[in-house]
Amino acid sequence: MKLGQTDISIGKIAFGCWRFAGHDFGAADMLIRTALDAGMNLIDTADIYGFSEFPHLDDQGFGQAEIRLGEVLAAAPSLRKQMVLATKGGIDAIRPYDSSYAYLMRAIEMSLERLQTDYVDLYQIHRPDLTTPMAEVARALNEMVASGKARAIGVSNFTVPQMRALQSYLDMPLVTIQPEFSALEQAPLENGTLDYAEEIDATVMAWSPLAGGKIPLEDGPVQDVLDRIAKTYGISRSTAALAFIRGFGANVLPIIGTQNPARITESGYAAQVNLTGREIYDVVEAYRGESMP
Ligand SMILES: NC(=O)c1ccc[n+]([C@@H]2O[C@H](COP(=O)([O-])OP(=O)(O)OC[C@H]3O[C@@H](n4cnc5c(N)ncnc54)[C@H](OP(=O)(O)O)[C@@H]3O)[C@@H](O)[C@H]2O)c1
Repeated sequence: MKLGQTDISIGKIAFGCWRFAGHDFGAADMLIRTALDAGMNLIDTADIYGFSEFPHLDDQGFGQAEIRLGEVLAAAPSLRKQMVLATKGGIDAIRPYDSSYAYLMRAIEMSLERLQTDYVDLYQIHRPDLTTPMAEVARALNEMVASGKARAIGVSNFTVPQMRALQSYLDMPLVTIQPEFSALEQAPLENGTLDYAEEIDATVMAWSPLAGGKIPLEDGPVQDVLDRIAKTYGISRSTAALAFIRGFGANVLPIIGTQNPARITESGYAAQVNLTGREIYDVVEAYRGESMP
């Protein structure tokens, strides 16, 4: 499939680096190769990933996930060519959100430096900054693309009105929308996020697609339905959960967070599983606690 309206080809599952900063080089290298081998060519990171994990550092680890990924890419430049590299900026952990022109232009420079690359394939605003006019955010994003520092742009955790406002000032379409979306967090089905993605032909990158581990680790009515579906297809509950969020009108790309190589490989199977409409509605109804009207 393609990344939004671009001609950039992406696998049906993406690999996320939120929990990546603590690995040593060898483990980090192996995880990236495992993800690429499993068809996950889109690698999603952010400048903030690692923050608070390294209290002894002055910056408490801000940038550490990018630094680790950059080391892997520098050691094996061929990996960079196989990869659709996505990062995010706009959380400074204190303000806490800053999407001013000056902040974003410096943030992308710093990300490129840490990632040891000249450009990212996708730059995303991590969270909406309520204090900066959308016209100013757009000026930064337009310039990132015009200068070749980012091939495409997207947003995360934006409401639909926020995305519309930003889009109205952009020279190019937003190609990704990144909300939290899983069998246990179905708000994007109801708040217009998936519909807006269809309207502008953007890819939905679903973060925490296993609800941060609650889907495999806890039990409940949604998990019961996923177990029944999993049995039908001979897959795990987690794989069924990834297949579920791929079952809608919009193009949804789950970003898996596991740092376990066997689970990364297994997650790749979800790209081949297409649930029936009835199975999808069974999960929706279990989440809502009632049948569809
Ligand atoms: N834009 C945003 O604001 C935002 C916010 C959060 C995340 N994200 C993105 O989304 C990605 C995924 O988020 P996430 O890490 O929360 O994803 P997730 O896939 O929902 O959760 C991953 C967690 O579940 C655990 N897990 C998975 N399968 C398991 C199993 N079978 N048994 C026990 N534990 C299991 C993993 O532990 P193991 O490693 O041990 O498997 C890991 O701790 C991030 O890397 C990041 O790229 C974006």
